[in-house]
Amino acid sequence: MVTQNTPIPEPQDTRQRRLRDLRISITDRCNLRCTYCMPADVFGPGYKFLPRSEILDYEELARLARISATLGVTKLRITGGEPLLRRDLGDFIRMLRRIDGIEDIALTTNGILLPKLAGELKAAGLDRVTVSLDSLDNETFGQLNGRGVSVKPVLEGIAAAEAAGLGPVKVNMVVQRGVNDKDILPMTEHFRGRPTRILRFIEFMDVGNSNGWRMEKVVPSREIKQMIHERWPVESAEPNYPGEVARRWIFRDGQGEVGFISSVTNTFCGDCTRARLSARGEFYTCLFAANGTDLRRPLRAGQSDDELRALIENIWRKRGDRYSEIRNQNTAGIKKAEMSYLGG
Ligand code: GTP
Ligand code: 5AD
Ligand code: SF4
Ligand code: SF4
Repeated sequence: MVTQNTPIPEPQDTRQRRLRDLRISITDRCNLRCTYCMPADVFGPGYKFLPRSEILDYEELARLARISATLGVTKLRITGGEPLLRRDLGDFIRMLRRIDGIEDIALTTNGILLPKLAGELKAAGLDRVTVSLDSLDNETFGQLNGRGVSVKPVLEGIAAAEAAGLGPVKVNMVVQRGVNDKDILPMTEHFRGRPTRILRFIEFMDVGNSNGWRMEKVVPSREIKQMIHERWPVESAEPNYPGEVARRWIFRDGQGEVGFISSVTNTFCGDCTRARLSARGEFYTCLFAANGTDLRRPLRAGQSDDELRALIENIWRKRGDRYSEIRNQNTAGIKKAEMSYLGG
């Protein structure tokens, strides 16, 4: 008999992977138009973003997070679009903070609104932030973000997060050949030696269907690492936790570390414990999936926590995703959800 005190066995998928991380997208909107994520010609003035009525409210999202925690989730990441655009985010973080079993609450942002919000979010219980920044050169960055925004507001956002105690701040740089590969060493030089900032290089990925991905545009992590090593020698370091996405490399001169997220050339599906929830309440088992399972309908139809838990558990047990392992030039064209919709 299952009593209230009997722990629920944590489900494993068909490849023996548990469910540990839930990444929750709270909006599909963004104040930037990064070419690799929301290219301005696709996400233009006529683009139809989700209407308010389609988006789950914070209570609904927090309920799904609470149910996921009973299935093994210990880590939450709030994403978007740009999550800082959604109102009263502190209320949501307070709800998440109260969930039993949640050890880490992080947020991925472009940083621009952090000077305004960092203190409030920290007070609400946010643990840390990850900020996207692809170049320190205003012209390159302005073109890449599609809105001509300069580097300064992002650096101010990073500083505000540090000052609020949301560090160490991880800084994500998506590298594209011929676009910002010239910025690898300047970015490394800038972020090295600052223990509260960790730079990570991300291989350009074929997420969604609108960013014009081609294999030739990917700069393999190996190449970036070699470039850095020749200037500032590095050595590999152990992961901080099992299944960490970024491979860590430490500067031999004691000036901190850099990370490499090599989803194209060194895949990490084998221990992928991540699920994603869209703002509309769809549960995705892979970043490269075309569709997720609609949880909003059963949620709004009045299903109980137990029923919703059984639904999520069932999806997880059937999961067999390993997109990055089977990627090739032809899979890039198959229908996939957009990054801005799924939150990365
Ligand atoms: P922490 O280790 O908790 O700091 O988080 P993280 O490394 O998962 O960081 P973050 O969420 O910033 O992920 C960085 C980037 O890695 C994402 O923006 C994606 O581009 C990529 N990434 C994260 N998770 C996955 C995944 O499951 N599959 C693939 N292919 N890429 C991922
Ligand atoms: N390839 C790799 N990383 C991407 N991101 C967005 N689009 C891509 C892509 N096509 C990253 C952003 C941000 C996070 C949400 O995902 O830089 O850090
Ligand atoms: Fe916005 Fe982030 Fe996508 Fe850039 S990468 S368009 S900041 S959601
Ligand atoms: Fe996980 Fe899919 Fe990414 Fe592989 S490609 S690591 S299964 S999200």
